[in-house]
Amino acid sequence: MGRIRLLSEAVASQVAAGEAVERPASVAKELVENSLDAGARNIDIAIRRGGISLVRVIDDGCGMDRDDALLSLERHATSKIRSASDLQAVATLGFRGEALPSIASVSRFRLTTREGSAIAGTEIIVNGGKLDLVRDGGEAPGTQVEVRSLFYNLPARRKFLRSENTESRNIEHQIHLQAIGHPEIGFSLMRDDRILFRLPTAATLGDRIRDLYGAELLKRLVNVNGAPSPKIQIGGFIGQAGLSRQSRSQQLVFVNGRAIESTLISGAVREGYHTALMKGQYPVTFLFIELDPGAVDVNVHPAKREVRFRDPSGVREAVVRCIQQTLERARADWQEKFRAPVRPEAITAVAGKSAPDLTLRPEVTAPETTHRELPHLDTVAGVADPGRTRRSEIVEQAPGLPERRFDSAGDAPVRHLQHRDAKPAQQQFEIIGVLSKLYVLMENANGLVLVDQHAAHERVLFEELRRRMEQQGVPTQKLLLPQTFDVPPRDADWIEQNLSVLQRMGIGIESFGPGTFKIDSLPSFLDVSDATQFMRKVIDDLKNASNNASAIRLGEEMIAKSVCRHAVKANDPLRYPEVEKLIRDLLDCDLPYCCPHGRPTMIQISLGELEKKFGRKV
Ligand SMILES: Nc1ncnc2c1ncn2[C@@H]1O[C@H](COP(=O)(O)OP(=O)(O)OP(=O)(O)O)[C@@H](O)[C@H]1O
Ligand SMILES: [Mg+2]
Repeated sequence: MGRIRLLSEAVASQVAAGEAVERPASVAKELVENSLDAGARNIDIAIRRGGISLVRVIDDGCGMDRDDALLSLERHATSKIRSASDLQAVATLGFRGEALPSIASVSRFRLTTREGSAIAGTEIIVNGGKLDLVRDGGEAPGTQVEVRSLFYNLPARRKFLRSENTESRNIEHQIHLQAIGHPEIGFSLMRDDRILFRLPTAATLGDRIRDLYGAELLKRLVNVNGAPSPKIQIGGFIGQAGLSRQSRSQQLVFVNGRAIESTLISGAVREGYHTALMKGQYPVTFLFIELDPGAVDVNVHPAKREVRFRDPSGVREAVVRCIQQTLERARADWQEKFRAPVRPEAITAVAGKSAPDLTLRPEVTAPETTHRELPHLDTVAGVADPGRTRRSEIVEQAPGLPERRFDSAGDAPVRHLQHRDAKPAQQQFEIIGVLSKLYVLMENANGLVLVDQHAAHERVLFEELRRRMEQQGVPTQKLLLPQTFDVPPRDADWIEQNLSVLQRMGIGIESFGPGTFKIDSLPSFLDVSDATQFMRKVIDDLKNASNNASAIRLGEEMIAKSVCRHAVKANDPLRYPEVEKLIRDLLDCDLPYCCPHGRPTMIQISLGELEKKFGRKV
């Protein structure tokens, strides 16, 4: 007896719905995508009880005539592709002809639609996949879809839904994605009869981000405009170095206008940020990648959330490069913003000087004896400096002494250190003092700047070491006893092929018989107790990194780790000349605003914020 049966159309639709319609947010997504594909200028969305009770999407797009409206509810009915070859280069958001019949099979569904020129429109009602009514309707041109009682006929699916609040938040996120992806389209979202937002048409991406996430966020974003290769354009905004989030919720990526999730791209973004991103944190991106539709396969995920690139490594490299260049460019803009207050003597300033100038308040004085100097690179690189060690011992022996004093006649006035007389040109910062032996307080044109001296010193040392590594190669230190270690054949092949990369990173490694290697030197800034174990870790990490850029990055990571141990600690009191030098060196860095682990080095508190706090301004 035959056991195989063809499923009825209704059951087949429900099965398909299981893939495409996971939750109310998927309904909202599919309906809004249809409106966008229909050329809508305005899309109004309303939800009730987390979208479980109602999701309604109204658009002013092209609408459908009665035949098309009926056909749109058949499975595999689409106006967007015709042949298999169209599937190779999809230019619309939809292409499967599956969303409407799937949604209609698991809800109480009502569609009204009218073409612009038609006298009458069409109204169709479907309940749980069963066509219940077709008649003329008199709505405005465009399409309105109402989806009520989602999963009412599939209690098992309904049980999987989360709380109304969570489902609402998912829908809001979905609509945010669509609204950011299409700033030129007007959107409004109503939740349980309350307007959550109403976004005007013809906005720029910047306006849209401001309207949805606030002006404060927009201020901390940098514009991306890279065309890293003729085949791929990258635009949008990314968070400046130091800006990060605990979740991926603001890591938005669009490929040809479609919001996607991609581990390839998030990996590339992370690599582009590298030390500008805190460990375990996520960057903020509104990244728009445009490439030939033929170079992306969109037909790889049931909810169209993922895509596959024909040339994944090309896309990856383009994104890495674009992020790096954007962050570098942001540095110049950033310095511009941090200009000092204009004082009478600075008005005659000679413009065009790039190096930041610093002054210290004449009334600030610094005791000499209780402060130590910044450790220099030689110490970091392993060359001991006994004099310096002694100085820090003095600090520890005299904890009771005041760390800094103001207007103290006995100490050398800091005026001797300041550059105002020597270089009256451009002032960018004025150092006010040091708070709690850790935070350098400075004034600039915007107000107050606080610098974390430990983070600042880490950044300075890190960039200095990296520069050395690039120019002269990594300084190495011979091991007292060369060590040999065995690896499995696959790793051995890999090491053989990458010997030169390892050597460039300062690892003296050579082949020592089949499957055996010898290490006789390591980078001198590293403090490694077990060379073999260290090597195994490096090899694992390197194997995971796919190209040469990553090998250099790995070298940088080793530097970042060692730098942290050598940088001035929070409680190390510094003499003012050292503070001044530290700030000057920091401002000369490529990425001055965060330490190599991505923590911020400085925080700006604007005069406006202070005025608000003191109630001068509301
Ligand atoms: N809001 C709308 N305005 C005008 N036409 C629409 C609208 N929504 C759907 N349609 C028409 O109905 C068809 C079927 O829509 P449906 O969402 O089911 O499939 P699709 O968008 O073609 O593909 P996918 O299943 O990938 O979304 C569309 O191809 C389109 O022609
Ligand atoms: Mg669709």
